[in-house]
Amino acid sequence: MKIIMLGAPGAGKGTQAKMIAEQYKIPHISTGDIFRANIKEGTELGKEAKTYMDKGLLVPDELTVKILLDRVAKEDCKNGYVLDGFPRTIPQAEVLDKALTELGDKIDYAINVDVPDENIINRMSGRRACLSCGATYHIEHIPPKKEGVCDTCGSELVLRDDDKPETVKNRLNVYHEQTQPLIDFYTAKNVLKTVDGTVDMKDVFAAITEILDK
Ligand code: AP5
Ligand code: MG
Ligand code: ZN
Repeated sequence: MKIIMLGAPGAGKGTQAKMIAEQYKIPHISTGDIFRANIKEGTELGKEAKTYMDKGLLVPDELTVKILLDRVAKEDCKNGYVLDGFPRTIPQAEVLDKALTELGDKIDYAINVDVPDENIINRMSGRRACLSCGATYHIEHIPPKKEGVCDTCGSELVLRDDDKPETVKNRLNVYHEQTQPLIDFYTAKNVLKTVDGTVDMKDVFAAITEILDK
């Protein structure tokens, strides 16, 4: 099963993608997590990506597409994957589509997690992220068992550099301009499913499994 998560920054793509990956035993691939891991390790890719990410801008398609295509070519992706944060532009979607078509394959579902902009800023300021394993928490809605420590891997939790309110506003603008057109792109391919992302994360997940189990 090949799944794409769509939605504004902070809509809960990562939260839901992790749950999908666990339940359906497919890898969770987040381009944002890949960039953050590279930033943490101080790689050249990380240094370049950081200059865009800190401003709330997208990393250029050229860089992003290569990383994603390399990742989905790995052995563990044979039975599918859930993509979180890719594609984010029409050119990225077209490259993915072409690569899959060449393999006689396609995306099965594009799940749009719908959350209005008003809810997003609050979510971001309360988010705490684990830069080691990619887990996310929320200080009010989804707190870790021990404050500041990742339940899954024990690493320190941090406020992401791009979660400051001014940067979040830029990310929302970029989302509306460059990523939202993908909703029409995947509607035209008959794979778009929209779920209400404002309800409890367990209820969002229930709506998603209902779609995937059909
Ligand atoms: P990326 O890491 O993908 O960030 P994003 O899309 O901005 O999305 P987020 O990770 O911020 O939010 P999310 O939807 O995963 O929400 P989460 O589950 O954490 O990208 C970061 C940057 O990298 C981009 O700005 C760009 O520069 C670059 N980049 C990445 N991919 C790229 C690409 N393809 N092309 C170009 N550039 C790229 O949830 C948010 C918070 O809400 C959490 O605290 C969570 O606990 C909480 N929460 C989740 N669900 C609920 C719920 N139902 N109720 C209450 N709280 C909830
Ligand atoms: Mg995320
Ligand atoms: Zn962790």
